[in-house]
Amino acid sequence: MTNPSPVTLSELVKALSIPETKSAPIFRLMRVLVHAGFFAVQKIHELKSEEGYVSTPTSKLLSNNHDINLSSFLLAVTDPLCVTPCHFMSSWFQGKGSTPFEAAYGMDFWSYCSQHSDASKSFDASMSTDSEFVMNVVVKECKPMFEGFSSLVDVGGGTGSCAKAISEAFPHLRCTVLDLPHVVSHMQGSENVEFVGGDMFEYIPYADIILLKWIMHNWTDEECVDILKRCKEAISVNNNGKVIIIDIVVDVNKGKNEAIETQLCFDILMMVMLTGKERTETEWEKLFLEAGFTSYKITHGFGSKSVIEVFP
Ligand SMILES: C[S@@+](CC[C@H](N)C(=O)[O-])C[C@H]1O[C@@H](n2cnc3c(N)ncnc32)[C@H](O)[C@@H]1O
Repeated sequence: MTNPSPVTLSELVKALSIPETKSAPIFRLMRVLVHAGFFAVQKIHELKSEEGYVSTPTSKLLSNNHDINLSSFLLAVTDPLCVTPCHFMSSWFQGKGSTPFEAAYGMDFWSYCSQHSDASKSFDASMSTDSEFVMNVVVKECKPMFEGFSSLVDVGGGTGSCAKAISEAFPHLRCTVLDLPHVVSHMQGSENVEFVGGDMFEYIPYADIILLKWIMHNWTDEECVDILKRCKEAISVNNNGKVIIIDIVVDVNKGKNEAIETQLCFDILMMVMLTGKERTETEWEKLFLEAGFTSYKITHGFGSKSVIEVFP
């Protein structure tokens, strides 16, 4: 496939149906997006000075024409639902609500989603695109982690994107997605993916593998230990059973600066929206030991996230 030719500023303004009088502000907006790596500038003719914009691998990830489209994730985290609570940090610091989100909306995030179907749908869609993106790599790079097992429960598995990717890559694995009833009630299962509505603090179905992707960072240490203890009970059917966690392991001294910045920004997002946090390896280890697990293995290298296998 040939690369599309560069788009000039006037072509861009026209394509966006923006009046020509707004060309200068669009140029300024594009200048910052080029600097941030979302677009690049290319000469249109070798001999002429005219330049145009081209997409980069970053902007391709936000395009409808790309297999993986993370735009709904970006839209969700920049939505007023997420941004407004940031303005309530000061009242939260002064004691209002258990989170800035609660200070802003008078209830916790999960209750808000259960009462506002639009918010719930866009949150679930944003999680789903992240899962497609991450699992595309995990099922290839971490193949042995899933081999030799026959059942998996994806706890807090949302609309099932992780389970779908896993069941396609490992057809012998029977996958169950456990999530809150309002998230899964309308979901259709398939031959080896079923949806169960419930509360992970009350019940986790038995399985060889329990998957927790982007779950633990939503909760306090005490709540995480509670979830992990339930996971331990749920894998007790198989002596080789294990928990697989896909989450952030914060290390401010290792890795690319962009990945560290993402980890730290997510930590603040967790502080604003929920009662959770991003954890260092030492903090993770403490949770595992308190919940009665004996060992763990971390595989890094999935952008800002890591995969942690936890063994009873
Ligand atoms: C951050 S999302 C992660 C979704 C999915 N694992 C992923 O990575 O795409 C957290 C999920 O936990 C679910 N959840 C929250 N509280 C729950 C509970 N008490 N029991 C089961 N699921 C819960 C939410 O509905 C949501 O789908």
